[in-house]
This record gives sequence, C-alpha cells and structure tokens, in this order.
Amino acid sequence: MKKGLRSRLAQYGDEEFAFFLRRGFLKGAGFTDDALDLPIVGILSTASDFNPCHKTAPQVAEAISRGVRMAGALPFVFPTVSLHEAFSYPTSMLLRNLMAMDVEEMISALPLDAVVLIGGCDKTIPAELMGAISADMPAIIVNVGSMLAGKHEGTRLGACTDCRRLWAQFRAGTLEGPDLNRAHDQLMPTSGTCMVMGTASTMACMAETIGFMLPGSATAPAVSSDRWRFAEATGKRAAEMARTGGPRPSELLTKAALRNASVVLQATSGSTNALVHLAAIAGRAGITYDLQELDRIGRDVPVLLDLKPAGMNFMEDFHAGGSLPSLWRRLKDHLDLSAKTVNGETIGEIIARWPPYVDDKVIRPLDNPLVKGEAIGILTGNLAPGGAAIKLASATPELFQHEGAALVFESLEDLEKRIDDPNLNVTPQTVMVLRNAGPIGAPGMPEAGALPIPKKLGSKGLKDMVRLSDARMSGTAFGTVVLHVSPEAAAGGPLALVRDGDRIELDTKGRKLNLKVDDAELAKRRAQWKPPQKPARGYLRLYTDRVTQAEHGCDFDFLAGEK
Ligand code: FES
Repeated sequence: MKKGLRSRLAQYGDEEFAFFLRRGFLKGAGFTDDALDLPIVGILSTASDFNPCHKTAPQVAEAISRGVRMAGALPFVFPTVSLHEAFSYPTSMLLRNLMAMDVEEMISALPLDAVVLIGGCDKTIPAELMGAISADMPAIIVNVGSMLAGKHEGTRLGACTDCRRLWAQFRAGTLEGPDLNRAHDQLMPTSGTCMVMGTASTMACMAETIGFMLPGSATAPAVSSDRWRFAEATGKRAAEMARTGGPRPSELLTKAALRNASVVLQATSGSTNALVHLAAIAGRAGITYDLQELDRIGRDVPVLLDLKPAGMNFMEDFHAGGSLPSLWRRLKDHLDLSAKTVNGETIGEIIARWPPYVDDKVIRPLDNPLVKGEAIGILTGNLAPGGAAIKLASATPELFQHEGAALVFESLEDLEKRIDDPNLNVTPQTVMVLRNAGPIGAPGMPEAGALPIPKKLGSKGLKDMVRLSDARMSGTAFGTVVLHVSPEAAAGGPLALVRDGDRIELDTKGRKLNLKVDDAELAKRRAQWKPPQKPARGYLRLYTDRVTQAEHGCDFDFLAGEK
C-alpha cells in the first residue's frame, strides 16, 4: 500500500499524472513540497450547526491537529454526516448506517495513513466504529466530551434524565409552565453530550473499553482542559499510527474486547442502545455479539458506577473520581486484561499504572455496589423468539414479575392520538404494547419504547407500569420497559399478533416474556396478518429492504464482515 499523498490516487490511467495533479492542487492551497512528503492523518469532523452536542468539534479538531503536527505528520480535517438526537427526523438511528457508510467510504477514498474520528452524540461513535472496522484503517476515536451538570435552585440537573422527569411532572400537572421554563435554561448548561450514563456516555465508555480511545479520555467534560489535552495526545498517537501502520481495528476488536465491553456495560448500567450498536460493530468484524453472555455477566457483575439515571452523579464526577481505568481496576477479575488498546498497552497494563485515587461514592467498591442485581437482562419467550432487553437497574422491582392485560398501540401515531384519552381502557396493571416501531416498522427503531404514562394514571401519581415494544429507549430514560422485541411486528414477529386484553407475562427472574394465547389462536391470527407496505424509493427503501433485526445490530445485511 502506498503511503501519504501517493495513496489512493484518482484513476486517470496514469498514476504519475494523478499524483502530479493532486500535489498541484495542494501546492495551490499553499503547501510546500516538504509538508506534502509527510505522513497524513485525517481528522473526521462531525462539526455541524445542527449538532449542538458537537459545538466544540472545531476546537477538538484544532487540538488534534496540533498533536499531529507535533509528532511530524500532516493533519487534514474533513467533514462527515453528523447526527444529533433531536435534529434527525424521524430518528437518528435511521441515519446511523448512512453515517457508517459515509465514514467507511470516505476514509477508504482519501489519501490517509491514519484517521482520528471525532464522535460524541449517541449514534456518532457507533457509526464511526462500524465504518472504521470495515475500512480496517488505523483509527482512533476522540469524543467531544460531556456537558457539565446543570444547577437549578439547589438541584443538579442532567440531560436528558431530568428532561424526562420534569416533563412527566409537567404532564401530570405537578409542575407549572414557568417553573419548567426556568429549569429548561439549566438542563443543557454547556456544549457537549448528555452528562448522564445515556447512550453517548455509554458508547464513549464502550469505545475506550474495546481499545479505540486513549485511556481515561471517554469521561473528560467537553469544556475541560483535559478534553483539549486528550485531543492533542490523540493527534500525536495518530501520527505514530500513520507512520507504523497500526494497530488496525481488526487487531483491537476481538471477542475478548467485546466481552470486556459487556462487563463494563453491566457495571455502568449503560444504555440498552449499546446492545444494538455492539452487535453492529461486532458484525462488521464478522463476530456475533453474544447477548446471552451479556446476560450471564450481568448476574455476576453488579452496578458499580453511581451515575444518573441509575444513581445520582454525572460524567464530570466520574472523570474526577478516577475515570474508566479506575472502574476497570475494580472489575479486573471479570475482564480479559490481555485485551489490546490503540495506545499500545493492554487493559491490564493501563490498570497497573493508573493513579490509585478513586472516589468510592462514584465508582463504588464491589462490596458496596449501587445495585446488587444485574443492570440489563435479556428475555426470550413466545412473544420474543429473537430476544428482548430490559434495563432492570432503571425498572421498578415490584414489576419484575408481572402479568397483565395487553393494551395495544398499532403505531407511534396511534400512541400519540390515544395515550391521553380520558376513556383509555388502562389500569396500573395493564401491559402497554407498542408495535410497528422497530427497525423496519417505524422505520429506524426510534427511542419510543418508554411509552408515556397515560395522563389518566400519571395525574393520580402513577410513575411506572410495564411497557413493551419493538422500539428502543434512550439511555437516559427509566421505567419497567421491555425493548427490542424481536422479530419486530413489521417483520411478522409474534408482537404483530397481540390483541387488546391478551394476557402477557413478564418474568424477569426466569428471563421470560410470554403471550398467554394458545398456538391455534395465534396461527389463526397469523393467517390474517399482512406485512406493512414499504416505502417506494430512496434510502428508506434500501433501509427497510436490508436492515437486520435488533439482535444483529440493525445494520444493513450486506455490510457485515466475513465470519
Ligand atoms: Fe447529543 Fe444526548 S442529545 S448526547
């Protein structure tokens, strides 16, 4: 493989001419011949005015560039698709695969020797990892970092856990509009990603654990000096990688690294979205992400990290309290310490040299966990033959074993139309079911799984009830919510056959989700079922034709790596 500016020349049937032309254009941009002989580090920037979480991406890119230059390479910043949760209609998940394809194709097309990927907001790090793994180019991630916690009238606020809490109070009529507005100003007090253990924080911790980020960097707040120092150090490391040609993603993403990710996911009570993303990331390397192993790990590994929504603290506290390597140290008997990282060190070597200080209130010791039980459980049963997920650490223990009558919402539109109907046939024992909100059905599997508590019950003080769907849920949300039911309704899964009044049993201890309707009746209903119509054209058509189910990562089937 040719290096630097000579790599991946445009095809004119004359390589020397292609090189002459390319070099000429950069001379035209003011580069000297000396500069153009250096190794090249691409800096993939997700800066976008529509991505407020990434407002500091240009400064991050600048600090990375400084590091690249300090180490004797040439930085080139280039743009990619940028996804923010609140600015991606109908849902950012629909666009994650588009971003992953963009990342893969651009880093495969440009003359790069290594690439730094600036990630952060929920789907960006998964898309970058998926693309980088498929391209198998030496790659290192730096995240934009999390927001600082908000402070409002004596309370610390976190996006978006407290966005949901305050909104629920407003819906229930226990919080007035002006009070909500005052808190609103403080919910996202700085740039950066959501500062609780939502999907952005989770995926940053996953990326560091599977070895794609510098140790300790996942947790540094967006507006801290540590953030710029990590960016500079990442640039320096990327320049070394450009020179040596490694490590490549295929050297880092192993079964052991993915198992380590499952350990950290359980110990942090991370977002259930990570299950889908890890399956997609593993799939790009031809590895099947083992959900049953994740479930087994959860039974042995308690929740140690005290961060919202399971606990009380924020990412800045995690960072000051010792950051991720301190958590790894606590978990060392559960981790494969020989797993390699982009830094050149193993997880074990990082733990051995990491400063001993740890804040026990944030990173709890094993004998005093935040939650003794597991964070995430995987369910199966006749309602979810392909599996379903539940975040037990954010659910109500009294609802762990529950049987109730189904109340079915056909779609997101149906949910929105009827949820606050005063005549809705719902009680606290009802199991609310949302379908056609999965990867194909919605399409894009939006974060609609935490169905709102009907006003009729919320106004009487009800905070939680059993809800299930083929949708996802934000990592910042909470409640007894069964997610990722697979196969989804739009793919003809049993979820499509549920009718109002059917009995549904949730048995978290036995890891079961069952529809108590006999097989003959289900066969009758199946004979009447018709698949929904697919979009006629464009990306939506590609998506609905080729997207896989949740347990396979909702990637496009043709993008999986060879097994
Ligand atoms: Fe960007 Fe939460 S919306 S991280």
